[in-house]
This record gives sequence, structure tokens and C-alpha cells, in this order.
Amino acid sequence: GSLPDIQDDPYKLTQDVLTELFSDIRKELWVPMEHLKQISRYYFDGNGKIFRPMLVALVSRAVNYHMHDTREVLESQREIALVAEMIHTASLVHDDVIDTSDTRRGKASVNLLCGQNKAILAGDFILSKAAKILARIGNEEVVIMLTQVLLDLVQGELMQLGSKEDAGERFSHYLQKTFMKTASLMAYACKAVAYLGGADKTLLEGAFQYGRNLGIAFQLVDDLLDFVSSQDEMGKPAAADLKLGLATSPVLFACEKFPELNTLIMRRFSHPGDVEQAYEAVMKSEGLEQTKVLAQKHCNEALRHIDSWRESPEKRALVTIMNKVLNRKK
Ligand code: FPP
Ligand code: MG
Ligand code: MG
Repeated sequence: GSLPDIQDDPYKLTQDVLTELFSDIRKELWVPMEHLKQISRYYFDGNGKIFRPMLVALVSRAVNYHMHDTREVLESQREIALVAEMIHTASLVHDDVIDTSDTRRGKASVNLLCGQNKAILAGDFILSKAAKILARIGNEEVVIMLTQVLLDLVQGELMQLGSKEDAGERFSHYLQKTFMKTASLMAYACKAVAYLGGADKTLLEGAFQYGRNLGIAFQLVDDLLDFVSSQDEMGKPAAADLKLGLATSPVLFACEKFPELNTLIMRRFSHPGDVEQAYEAVMKSEGLEQTKVLAQKHCNEALRHIDSWRESPEKRALVTIMNKVLNRKK
């Protein structure tokens, strides 16, 4: 029961690395075509949470300190922070096309402003520029790690488009999808900076598993918040996932108590009243609590994997992040 130490604030500890991040990304996205430049830079406006860059900066410092007694972040590690944020943003631009979402981070989405064709191209453009930075870093292993993220993102999104016929395999399908669409980027970005910092095998695996478990916990909480947040808190409507036909963790847990939900899940809540019925079932079940417990489990697992890392403010911040992820309200 001690007061939170300002020294362990994740964003403060990485401020020097992250302060120029948006302007550097905007520089990378320079292109003569004025319109393309504008729409691809649209979300790099200084308002994002830059959670992934902050995470990779912390892991970089913690690893560099553990291995080489220095907390200096390498240029190549910093470039991974840029690449991670760009891959993430590109995937969101495409995601809003797929989800026909009108808003993103409290602003009109690119697809709303420019239409879906241009939004797809803007996402492709950001991704291509990210690939260029990755190539410039010039480390083959790191290229392999981050291209795996791209493969995972596409497959995760595809998995989400189809329901699993076999009810027994639905939860593992959901967790695999969650790894691919959310955790893969965090896991491989953490691993990549650890690799660039010269991490040994144990540290490398620790970085990967920390990111993987953090990412899964992050998405579990996201899926939980979809049921409890109101429109203005999230900047998007509540129970949006149900409306998109998606059965996430709270519904899958609720289905164990109310097996009649199976039919609704299979038809992706497409009949009138399905969304309301599923929502009510989640509220009457322990689905939200069970989701939180599962997220907590992944948090603990993440922490177990960095337990042997040398003590540092950054390592303590990696612990703080887990609490923030678990207790965030939006
Ligand atoms: C947000 O999920 C979406 C993702 C985390 C991944 C989206 C991936 C793709 C569209 C594949 C394309 C990949 C690349 C590499 C460009 P969400 O819809 O659940 O979250 P939201 O509430 O933020 O919209
Ligand atoms: Mg979406
Ligand atoms: Mg989506």
C-alpha cells in the first residue's frame, strides 16, 4: 500500500524517446501528393495514446540496462517504436473500413471523410512507409518478427469474420484471434527491441511473453469495456461488438450459463432482438467478472516473465502498466 511513485510513471520515463515521435512519423509520411500526405498523417496529430511506442521504449531501456548497464535507447529501437505505431494505425484505418466505423479517437474516421477506397490506400501507404523504415533498420531477424505481425493481423481479422461452428473450440479460437489481432504486435515489437539490445535467449522470450500476455489482457479488457462504457466515454457506442456480430469473451462466458446463446452467436446476432438478448444474458451471467479474472491471469503471467529482469524504474513501470491496463475505464 505505497503511493504511486512518479519515478515509475511509464510515460514520464520514456518522454525523451517519445516526444518527437509524431513529428518523426509525419516526416516519414512525406509525399508530394498533398491529399495522400494529409490523410495518411491524419491520426498522427499528437492525440493518440502511443501505448505501443511507450511499451517498446520501456522494454528497450529495461533490456539495455539488464544487458549492458545503460538506459540509453538505441536509434534502431526507437525506430521500432515508430514502426509499431504506424502498423497499428494502418490496421485501424483498414479496420474502420471493415467495421464501417464513422469515428476514431473522437474524430471522424478517414473512411467517413474520404470514402473507403482512399482509406484503404491511406492504410496501405502508412504500412508501406513502415516497411521502408523496417528495411532501413537492416536487421533480418527483426524484419521477420514484424512481418509476422502483419500476417497475424490479417489472419486475426479474417478469423473474426467467421464464427466457429464447434462451440467447444470457440474460446480457444477467440483467444487465438485475440493474440493475432492485438497481442502479436506488442509481443513481437517487445521481442524486436530486446533483440536489437542484444538480449540473451531468456530475456528475448521474456520480452515476447510479456508483450503477448499484456496484449491479450489489453484486448480482454477492451472487450469487457465494450459492454460497460457509454458512447461518450469510449468515443464509440456501447455493445458495438455485438452489433458487429462478434461474440467476445463476456458473451462466450455467458454462453456457458445460457447455452441458448449458441444459436445467436452462430447467426452473429443478426435477428431483431438478438443484440439485446445477448446483452441481457451477459449482464445476468458472470461473463464480465470472468473476463476480468482471465485478464488478471494474463497480467500475472506477463509479470512472471519479467520477474528475473534487473530492477530498474523501467521494470517497475512495466508492472505499473499491467495495473493500468487492467483497471482502465476507457
Ligand atoms: C481493431 O479492432 C483492429 C485491429 C486491432 C486489427 C485490424 C487488422 C486489420 C484490419 C488487418 C489489416 C492489417 C494491416 C497490417 C493493415 P476492433 O475493431 O475490435 O477495435 P476498435 O473498437 O478500435 O475498432
Ligand atoms: Mg473496429
Ligand atoms: Mg474490427
